[in-house]
Amino acid sequence: MALERTFAIIKPDAVIAGVSGQILQAIEDSGLQIIGLKRTRLTPAICRGFYHEHVSKGFYPELEAFMIEGPVILMCLSGDDAIKRWRDLMGSTNPSNAAEGSMRKRFGTSIGRNATHGSDSPASAAFEVSYFFNAFELN
Ligand code: RTP
Ligand code: MG
Repeated sequence: MALERTFAIIKPDAVIAGVSGQILQAIEDSGLQIIGLKRTRLTPAICRGFYHEHVSKGFYPELEAFMIEGPVILMCLSGDDAIKRWRDLMGSTNPSNAAEGSMRKRFGTSIGRNATHGSDSPASAAFEVSYFFNAFELN
């Protein structure tokens, strides 16, 4: 197993619902380290750059409207096999298919409003971490 970094978002639905603390606790309980963290608000341009692979898809306008509707919490997580471990902790994209106890099962309400984001590969993790964090912000 390799020591990896991955990128995570607590999406606006979960921030607005006041469950950020429970998600941060679940990350820490899983043994992943939160090595970078900031709360901000995405703009349409920042969202398009981040979700560049989805911009041309039919669901993109709905995704962008959701991602800019409130604050987000952005994180860099570190640990052995961190990319897969955070994806497993999040659960399936659609909360109704997500495993019991996963973040999306506990806090998501639909495929669009699914509480969290996680990088899906080493290449996307590297892009996404560097899109939002400078090296000196990761400790
Ligand atoms: P994420 O990138 O947010 O971690 O989610 P994911 O890998 O599980 O899913 P992905 O295919 O990358 O889709 C990105 C986000 O777009 C929204 N989505 N809506 N309405 C729809 O059919 C639909 N499909 C995807 C979800 O919010 C998903 O997390
Ligand atoms: Mg994805």
